[in-house]
Amino acid sequence: MNGRRTLRVRAMAWEAEGILGIELVPLTPDTPLPAAEPGAHVDLHLGSACVRSYSLTNPGERDRWTLAVNLDAASRGGSKWIHESLRPGDTLGVDGPRNHFALNEASSHSVLIAGGIGVTPLLAMARRLVALGKPWTMHYAARSRAKMAYADTLRELAERSGASLDLRCDHEGDPPLDLAKIVSALPEGSHLYACGPAGLLNAFEAATAALARERVHLERFASNQQAATDGGYVVKLARDGRSVPIAQGQSILDALIGIGLHPPHSCREGTCGSCETRVLEGTPDHRDEILTDAERAEGTRMMICCSGSRSPLLVLDL
Ligand code: FES
Repeated sequence: MNGRRTLRVRAMAWEAEGILGIELVPLTPDTPLPAAEPGAHVDLHLGSACVRSYSLTNPGERDRWTLAVNLDAASRGGSKWIHESLRPGDTLGVDGPRNHFALNEASSHSVLIAGGIGVTPLLAMARRLVALGKPWTMHYAARSRAKMAYADTLRELAERSGASLDLRCDHEGDPPLDLAKIVSALPEGSHLYACGPAGLLNAFEAATAALARERVHLERFASNQQAATDGGYVVKLARDGRSVPIAQGQSILDALIGIGLHPPHSCREGTCGSCETRVLEGTPDHRDEILTDAERAEGTRMMICCSGSRSPLLVLDL
């Protein structure tokens, strides 16, 4: 993982109604940023102990990172703070980039499915596919044209590369995305990528259930799973040396914060990967949205914000 750096907000602009585009640059222009792959996100440190993850929209650029923030009506402080308090010239602590939603650049065709602000990682993928000269198709649904960010950019990318772009606005009479139809008409060897609200992603999982798992990729904003809160086990910290009992209703992350540690974390629900920790011994009870079935079975990593333990002792590389 790439460490924390301080970046300056060079520009902010409306990408759509309620969606602010943000451009971040290094404090010194001759310090290149790490190369970010399509699908990668960064964690922004937003004032008092609030950390939020946002997908980067400009893969490969080393002199700036761009992202977009939708003002979430149920904001716990992240998007509200950005919209109301962050301004050009301000600086932010930024962790990453990290990528749990990587593009398979070797596949013969990519199908990108976006709902609302879920367009951001898929825009990055579309840009990369155009740069590679690889075929792609995109289906993008938003509530209205006013709320549809990056529509012009996507039209330009599609026109330039000959890709098929399907834009729909639910509240303006367009029929909803027909995921079963999209899946039944997949070009041979396609990989599918989806990001958006839970309803769209649940339907996407159902529509792609019969496909080989390695062809299906999705990224959630919010977890679909219940955190493990049974407690009743002990976490031993291999490097720190302490053993920490986990009580009922407590996450490992909270228990560690309770003894004065500061493990990296952001979403607290298993969707961002900030708290990923190596497991040296024991059997995790995985509740995240990030690890694949094979990675879960391997049992060598876990998200300590939401996952628990199936064994009485877990030894973590902390
Ligand atoms: S804090 Fe986001 S996965 Fe744990």
